[in-house]
Amino acid sequence: MTDTHAEPVPIPGPRNIEWVGDAETGFLRLLDQTVLPNQVVYLECKDVQSVWDAIKRLSVRGAPAIGVAAAFGCVLGAQHGGFDPAAEHLATSRPTAVNLFWAIDRMKRVTPRTPEALLDEAKAIHTQDAAMCQCIGEHALDLIQDLLPRPQASNTKPLTLLTHCNAGALATGGIGTATSPMYLAQQRGMPVRVFADETRPLLQGARLTAFELGAAGIDVTLICDGMAGQVLREGKVDVVITGADRIAANGDAANKIGTYPLAVMARHHNIPFLVAAPSSTFDMSIADGDAIPIELRAAEEITEGFGSRTAPSGVKTYSPAFDVTPAELITAIITERGVIRPVNTEQVRSVVGATK
Ligand code: MRU
Repeated sequence: MTDTHAEPVPIPGPRNIEWVGDAETGFLRLLDQTVLPNQVVYLECKDVQSVWDAIKRLSVRGAPAIGVAAAFGCVLGAQHGGFDPAAEHLATSRPTAVNLFWAIDRMKRVTPRTPEALLDEAKAIHTQDAAMCQCIGEHALDLIQDLLPRPQASNTKPLTLLTHCNAGALATGGIGTATSPMYLAQQRGMPVRVFADETRPLLQGARLTAFELGAAGIDVTLICDGMAGQVLREGKVDVVITGADRIAANGDAANKIGTYPLAVMARHHNIPFLVAAPSSTFDMSIADGDAIPIELRAAEEITEGFGSRTAPSGVKTYSPAFDVTPAELITAIITERGVIRPVNTEQVRSVVGATK
């Protein structure tokens, strides 16, 4: 990780993940993101199954946050039924975000596997993720300024970013990945504006990104996913930036469903399309995005999201939760280790390393 050259940005909003108490008797407190922005409710996870459920139902979501939660879940396993069954079970909660498997693998390497040693490692994963977000923000803001040279003193037009889903503080241990340059720009007094895609069907952009950016005082404008093309066409956006759930060795990147069409449209309009993700999101064991497992979600998330039926009963559905953006559509991938540009196997390897 490179050194940051600025004061860390404080993590905005309610804490999404927190360990409460000691290693032997403590528990995991998670912000229940399913009820945001209307309610701020915390879940007390005192066993492995409650962490599994929280990941599965998206109470905790976002690739890095899933990994951190699973790491703490392993501590609960060591407290109760045993580490191995806990690690094995947690790995079945969601298939796409590789940070889940990365964090569990890190926990497996802890010796001795006492609750104390495991809790130290889970806390390290959590704090390192926060540091990675800060570094990503530094690299991202530098890159964005390079892509769009704009003399600071004379420029009053806000830097305008469009993002999809929530790759923010709620999705990580820190200030987010795609959101980190937004928070950093705000801290440095740069005018910044964000268009947030609402992100069908579970509305992470509307419920979470608009909530966290708005609460932090960042100028955020909510649009429906299908409006993004028109917003790009109207020339309102300088850069599109998203997170990722799993990035293959060649730079193909899986992210929330709806990201790929955004990348296609950004290319059509000659607007840079950036992916921001920590090294823990790379899966160097797979050559390209075709091998990324794509989670399929329940039909009800499309037909009766948030309790209101919006489709005929019995209608056939297909609900992939993620899509894969091919490397050739990605202008750059920003990691805590530096910027991958152009995006190809060689550059991924040189920035992230052959094994991570
Ligand atoms: O289904 P979700 O809400 O877990 O999907 C989250 C995303 O796709 C994020 O963009 C990704 O995990 C990156 S979070 C820094």
